[in-house]
Order: sequence, then C-alpha cells, then structure tokens
Amino acid sequence: MPTRLATAVANANIAFIKYWGNRDEKLRLPANSSLSMTLSGLETETTVEFSEGRAADEVIIGGQAQTGQARERVVAHLDTIRARAGIVWRARVESSNNFPVGAGIASSASAFAALSVAGAAAAGLDLTEPELSALARLGSGSAARSIPGGFVEWQAGSDDAPETSFAWSIAPPEHWDLVDVIAVVSQKHKAVGSTGGHALAGTSPLQAARVATAAERLQRCREALLTRDFPRFIEVVEADSNLMHAVMMTSTPPLFYWEPITLAIIKSVRRWRSEGLEVGYTIDAGPNVHCVCRSVSAAEVERRLRENLDVKTILVARPGGPARLRG
Ligand code: DP6
Repeated sequence: MPTRLATAVANANIAFIKYWGNRDEKLRLPANSSLSMTLSGLETETTVEFSEGRAADEVIIGGQAQTGQARERVVAHLDTIRARAGIVWRARVESSNNFPVGAGIASSASAFAALSVAGAAAAGLDLTEPELSALARLGSGSAARSIPGGFVEWQAGSDDAPETSFAWSIAPPEHWDLVDVIAVVSQKHKAVGSTGGHALAGTSPLQAARVATAAERLQRCREALLTRDFPRFIEVVEADSNLMHAVMMTSTPPLFYWEPITLAIIKSVRRWRSEGLEVGYTIDAGPNVHCVCRSVSAAEVERRLRENLDVKTILVARPGGPARLRG
C-alpha cells in the first residue's frame, strides 16, 4: 500500500524559568513565558509512516504498543497534523527514548517535538521553525522548547493569535558551557503528571503571584545567561524552581513531587556553593534534581552526588541542537 514516511530526533530540555499552568488548557497557551536549555544526548527518535490502507493509528513506544491515554494523546496530535495537511491516512508511529521516562526529565517534550517534525514531514507539510514549535506545543507545552537548539525562550503569545505562542533560540549551544548533572533518584512514574498538575495550578493562592512576577524573573535570567553571569543566573533559576514547587505544594489537592533525598541534595548543593563550588539546582515535576554548573565543575558535582549522597544514577547533558529530520 502507498506510504509516506519520515524519522526525526529531538532532545529533552530543562527549564530555567518554568512553565506551570495554562491560560487555555486545550491550546496549551501557558500562563507565563519560560526559558530553557535543550539537552544534548537525551533524545527521542520517532518514525511516522502514513499509509493509504491502514485502518487505525498504531503507536509503539519503546517497543510496546500503546493503548488508552498515551495512544489517544498521540492520535490527537496526528489528527491536528492530518487536518493541516488535508490528508486522512492513518499512521504507524514508532518512538524510543534513550533516557528514563516519567521522572521529571520532560520526556513529553522530546517526544512531541520529534513527533511534530516527523509527522509534519511525512504529511508533506513544509513548516518553519516557529510553526513547528507552535505545533509541538499543542502536544505538550514544553515540547515547543525542544524544537530550537541551545538556549530557548518560549513566549506565552496572545489569546487571539495562538500561533504567536512558540519558542526560539536566544543563544546557540556553544554560547555557554553549562552542564546539567541530573541526579536520578527515582525512575517511578509520578502519580500526577504535568498535564494534571497544570490544571491544578490555578487552585493555589500563590500561582497569581508567581505568574505576575515571572516576566521579571525571565528577564533577569535571560540577561544573566547572555552575559554568562553564573551567580546571578543560578539565583533566579533556584528562586523560580522554588516558587513553582510552592505552587504545587499549595494546590488543591497538593502535589508533593520531592522525596527526602531531593531536599538533601538541595541543601548540599547550596552548601557546596557557599563553599565555592559553582553549582545550583532546578527541579521539574518529579523528584530528580538537575544540578546546573559550568563544565569545569561537572566532574566534581557528579563525584559529590555519588560519594556524599549515594546517588547511583546520574545523567550528564550539555547544551544540545535543534530537533531534526534523520536520513
Ligand atoms: C515542570 O510540558 O510536560 O517541566 O503541556 O501538559 O505536556 P504538558 O506539560 P509539560 O510541563 C512541563 C512542566 C515542567 C516545567 C517546564 O518544563 O517548564
């Protein structure tokens, strides 16, 4: 049967200024703009094959055929792509990650970025990078930031023009030798995923204050990043992560993503910094701690996490490139 096929690869990203809560849940228009670093080596590779005679979409992730919500979310994204391209063919989607899924390493970001790039190409759509980013956003908000490479800003965009909510690169990967040393303290699937969490953000009395002050933090973070001012940079990165977790913990119901080891690492990182090691932390919707430092400190940060805190699994990622077609 006639087919159209494309394969794409996209990297995960770590947010320095976080996305938490949506103005529009369906369109994933975020409550605030955010800023991130695309992570090299933490990849999703996805192949999309549209076939004329296929009866239903088939979604395979990590070798497992998906059913239920995981499949539905991919099918909904394929429907968006099909509607844009004016095609009706069903697809086979095969996707694999080279890092643990569901523990705060934003696997949905690389997954929906790769699905958007491969799906659009296979459907015959010729999209610009901002268009691909806005498309990826519809699948998972943070995926908008996994389309560009390096250091990335996602502007919240305007309500009457959802296509203005996309991400772009503010500096290339080689701009700054930052390293994300990820202490993986749990690989369990979290009880409440990001999508459920975003929907609860507005129930916290702290969310309005977080959103009202986010633009100022983003500006400070962008400036510190562009001038490579690590002390100023890490101060605002930690403050932003703390504030997001305060919102999570004060939602109804409250979300406690941290484990005891998470707080132990936070305290150690702060102590190491006061003793002269340039390192800070940021944490997503999970217990793992992203320890952010410059290249020169990465080996020492990793050693201390292993030896002082008994962290067994550590992933190390540097600034990465944009999502791309393979082959
Ligand atoms: C805590 O992008 O995973 O990692 O749009 O529902 O897929 P959905 O949520 P997602 O949320 C990411 C939340 C975060 C912060 C961030 O990456 O900015």
